[in-house]
Amino acid sequence: MRLRFVLGCQPGQRPLDLYLARDLGAGQTTTSDSTSCNKVTIPLQRGSVHIPRPHAAQSSSALRSRHLSAPENGAPNRCYRSNVTDEPATNAARLQARAERVLPGTAGRKRQMLHEFMADFPWFVERGEGATLTDVDGRQFLDLMGAYGPNLLGHRHPRVEQAAARQQLLGDTMGGLGPVTIELAEFLTERIDPIDWVFVGKNGSDATSYALRVARQATGRSRVLIAEAAYHTAQDWGTMFPNGVPEPHRMLTSRFVYNDPESLRAAVAEAGDDLAAIMLTPFHQGFYEQPDVATPAFVQAVEQEARRSGAVLVLDDVRANMRMHPSGASHDRIGIRPDIVCFGKAVANGRAVSVCGGSDALRDAADAIGYLGTFFGSAVAHAACLETFRTFDDEGAFDRMLDVGERLSKGLSDAASSADLTFDVSGYPTMAMVHIGRQPGPYLDHLWAAGMVRRGVLIHPTVAWYVCAALTDAQVDTVVERAADCFAEVAVEAADRERAKTAGG
Ligand SMILES: Cc1ncc(COP(=O)(O)O)c(C=O)c1O
Repeated sequence: MRLRFVLGCQPGQRPLDLYLARDLGAGQTTTSDSTSCNKVTIPLQRGSVHIPRPHAAQSSSALRSRHLSAPENGAPNRCYRSNVTDEPATNAARLQARAERVLPGTAGRKRQMLHEFMADFPWFVERGEGATLTDVDGRQFLDLMGAYGPNLLGHRHPRVEQAAARQQLLGDTMGGLGPVTIELAEFLTERIDPIDWVFVGKNGSDATSYALRVARQATGRSRVLIAEAAYHTAQDWGTMFPNGVPEPHRMLTSRFVYNDPESLRAAVAEAGDDLAAIMLTPFHQGFYEQPDVATPAFVQAVEQEARRSGAVLVLDDVRANMRMHPSGASHDRIGIRPDIVCFGKAVANGRAVSVCGGSDALRDAADAIGYLGTFFGSAVAHAACLETFRTFDDEGAFDRMLDVGERLSKGLSDAASSADLTFDVSGYPTMAMVHIGRQPGPYLDHLWAAGMVRRGVLIHPTVAWYVCAALTDAQVDTVVERAADCFAEVAVEAADRERAKTAGG
């Protein structure tokens, strides 16, 4: 079993100081692996509260007979249809059939990601509350995915909802900016150093694209550098999906290997005197990769290269922000000083708000560019954003999420060890992922995630969890209990595969 939380440190700082600048209470232990930056602090106490299990666990043989063929053979998902009539058997199946006719991306998503393995994944959700989701077939899930980031405080958090409702009574999109937008901008510039001005958009892509436009305007240069497999935008300049994107739209974006200073330096050299920006994420997870956090050496290299080349240093903090530091800004965790920082996902607890903020030095460039959006003045979302930050502070949400992440990691690791599985947790406690087995490859991870989903725990096999502050210790213990059951099944399957491999020579 290995816990691999990688932490950013400034030169000379001890990682643990950065990681947990708070007291280690009684009943906690600190573990570390071989590198000095890899540490995690884990509370040892376990609760025994039981939450009724929404789905009966299935036997190992049932699990395997249903799932063994995928995802390796890429078989189409047949589980959405009843075996007897080939008619949709569930509300989700009916919605999927309708979606395939009118929402091509949704149908595509099923083919690419769902496989037969994730047939029970709740793709169609009816409602969320706190740390739970209910799908369109009435199945309830403990939600560890947090909508891939936005669910920070809990679905429909009362304080945020009330703030949004108050603004809704006054109006939402009204053509002119409401006072709340100015209040939000002032709040962010006061709160987050080195932000002196902000642009407020809807999606993370708005913020990152805006950042690059400011960088290009400020430097008069064209090229930008981003990490391989990093996701920054749905726009042509950086999308992970090349279909439909003309080559010239991608030619100004080059890539370096994350956490590899040499690769970065080579990319900077190659860009020459046309380098406008280096964009970095504090928390990195490429598709089908284990998550990673920027190392101190890499952070230092990025800063040096940006300063030396005159490129604008953009920190894309759309994903991590309030899950990496109580300030809400991950650069306070990894120890970098960006010229521009982008936020999104969690900052309005589920409403569409993104932010790009920059230093005074870039104010004129930001002033000069035109960047319009019909809904950029959404007063309701901005009220929700302000209230999300205030609630985050008042409820100690960062510490709560850290506790939850640690409890979860420790509990899952213990459960996997008891099932005699090789197990790895990587990322940051609030955003981490498990990997089972000695080899890379997602087969056992898929098996585990599928088993957890059938047990009413929403987890994804290839994307890090995003815990929310509404998760209770009792709910985490329930997840761990169900995981123990699930790991036992996976261990049987892993042993069978091992035997088959040995027999096959
Ligand atoms: C680091 C990062 N930047 C930017 C984006 C784009 O955000 P959005 O999907 O809201 O456009 C994402 C989305 O996952 C992201 O993770």
